[in-house]
Amino acid sequence: MLVLIAGITGGLGQRLAKVALSRGLSVRGLGRNPSKLPSSLSNQLESFITSTSYYDIPALSVAMQGVDAVINASAPHPLLDLDGHLLLLRAAERAGIRIFIASSWSRDWTNINFGDFEHYNNHIAFEHQVATSSFIKPVYILTGLFADLLYTVYGPGKFVVKEGEGPRMEYWGDGNRDKYPWTTQENAAAWTIDILMHGTGVQAGEGGFFKIRSGVTTIDELAAVKVTKRGSTANLVAELARLRKEKGRVNYIEYMSEEAAVVANKGLWENNEVAMLEEFEKPTSLEDWLRGDKSKLVV
Ligand SMILES: NC(=O)c1ccc[n+]([C@@H]2O[C@H](COP(=O)([O-])OP(=O)(O)OC[C@H]3O[C@@H](n4cnc5c(N)ncnc54)[C@H](OP(=O)(O)O)[C@@H]3O)[C@@H](O)[C@H]2O)c1
Repeated sequence: MLVLIAGITGGLGQRLAKVALSRGLSVRGLGRNPSKLPSSLSNQLESFITSTSYYDIPALSVAMQGVDAVINASAPHPLLDLDGHLLLLRAAERAGIRIFIASSWSRDWTNINFGDFEHYNNHIAFEHQVATSSFIKPVYILTGLFADLLYTVYGPGKFVVKEGEGPRMEYWGDGNRDKYPWTTQENAAAWTIDILMHGTGVQAGEGGFFKIRSGVTTIDELAAVKVTKRGSTANLVAELARLRKEKGRVNYIEYMSEEAAVVANKGLWENNEVAMLEEFEKPTSLEDWLRGDKSKLVV
């Protein structure tokens, strides 16, 4: 099977390529910067198609020639999540490709509404547009947060460091009740290739949603350090409304953690009914991940 990985030079893309090659698949890369790949990886590729941008249509068409499946591992950015995503899918359509793993590996946006969490509006819009206009039925893989982001502004429990004080972890809402599924990038890459090769209906082009996770945790379970509750759920909802008005949607990244906390508080991120293929390796535990060498995570 020849697999095209768009965004292969990125964090997840490189991991996907390594796993795919180790399973005997043939891998073609697509991106603007082939030099970002170590030679140990680029040497093993069937080829690398260099594009000038996500809207380099001739390069997209060349990249699709002879391909059996496409994986879109482009960066999580509004232009790539929607515009670039659709251009890649249309190129796959023109080449008659039926297996398309969509850029996702995200929290479960199937439970929320357009507008609840700006960052996922583009995923929701893409899914709707494709469902209503294409013969391709994409595969969407919902992982929860990547483990690397658990203690950042994008995840629950971001660290705040104040002059003269130790690091402090801050959170909104109910620290014991709100559950955050998370997945290591290694598990996400390995299980994605398992899903591509063995997931029900995937090789037949039937697509679908696959929910996976390495683990699920509450804020209190994450809290190995001093924790500061920032306010009640009612305060949080008011704060989010204020931030949305003040910052505007173009700056949604600045209020992403408050939005995530509102959705978590409603129990909508929980990633129930997870897929567990017999081919999956054992999930990484949070303890093992925290003890691991984080330098390996930086590609
Ligand atoms: N659940 C989570 O917490 C979480 C976190 C992060 C990512 N993700 C998901 O994982 C997937 C991959 O993300 P990633 O973090 O691995 O991506 P990444 O490393 O940030 O980027 C992947 C590649 O996208 C290309 N790219 C970046 N900006 C571009 C632009 N303006 N135009 C065209 N190409 C551009 C770059 O390739 P070239 O320079 O070679 O073109 C880059 O190497 C996405 O689906 C994302 O949604 C999930």
